[in-house]
Amino acid sequence: MVGSGLVVRDLSVGYGPVRALRRVSLEVPEAAVVTVLGANGSGKSTLLRAISRTLSFQGGAVTEGEVLLGDRRIDRLPPDRVVAAGVCQVPEGRRVFARMTVADNLRAGALGGARAGRAESLARVRELFPVLAQRAHQRAGLLSGGEQQMLAVARALMAAPRFLLLDEPSLGLAPLMAERIADTVREINDQGTAVLLVEQNAALALRLATHAYVLEVGEVTLQGPAAELAATDEVRRRYLGVVDEDAAADAETTGARTLTRWEG
Ligand SMILES: Nc1ncnc2c1ncn2[C@@H]1O[C@H](COP(=O)(O)OP(=O)(O)OP(=O)(O)O)[C@@H](O)[C@H]1O
Ligand SMILES: [Mg+2]
Repeated sequence: MVGSGLVVRDLSVGYGPVRALRRVSLEVPEAAVVTVLGANGSGKSTLLRAISRTLSFQGGAVTEGEVLLGDRRIDRLPPDRVVAAGVCQVPEGRRVFARMTVADNLRAGALGGARAGRAESLARVRELFPVLAQRAHQRAGLLSGGEQQMLAVARALMAAPRFLLLDEPSLGLAPLMAERIADTVREINDQGTAVLLVEQNAALALRLATHAYVLEVGEVTLQGPAAELAATDEVRRRYLGVVDEDAAADAETTGARTLTRWEG
């Protein structure tokens, strides 16, 4: 085991009778970018919630397994202590406090972190997201979708996490804005923060990550270096939308019709 990484070991999660994760194991080494791919409902958000200890807000609970930060178990801590330990989640759906100003949203994010680092965190966030500095006194609800996503990420960074958990940061954004978010994730990582990135945009995620996991109905079915996974037929077909050209050609010569279908 890597001494200071974030390690999930044999984690199972249920929402009442619904089993959402089954013995999931995964590791995020210090300062790495790791991605989790999977179809809708495969358990990606559940995994992040289990790490950040916010599952109970959704009626879920860990039924077995553990989460470690280095040698320390964090799966018994309350959510604010997980943040204090250096793990911070940006939830799905870019939730910002819409009626509060941008500046107050950032202040709220700093509450979990050490007081001493606050000015430093604010400077970092302003540099990463100049637009947020310009809009400091505007109500967050008036920002564009992409800007709100930036604010959600910025708010999490105010706690100066060593591990940032990102739940679908590119969801619903135009390609150009998704690219900007990707650039920012890379920059955040370059500054030494490890990132656990959940994405449906597999192409984007596999470019950013060094290691990738595929979740299917709550279980890890594939894992490996991101570049290797991106080259497998399974991932190309199911997550990168690459059509199998040989199969398509075969179908054409045999007169069969090629159907595309939604999977997951
Ligand atoms: N609060 C909840 N109560 C009951 N079941 C839930 C709850 N949240 C999620 N689930 C179920 O747990 C499973 C995993 O859901 P989860 O939201 O983790 O998937 P996901 O991979 O994040 O999906 P998406 O890509 O749509 O965000 C699904 O079957 C879902 O219906
Ligand atoms: Mg989700």
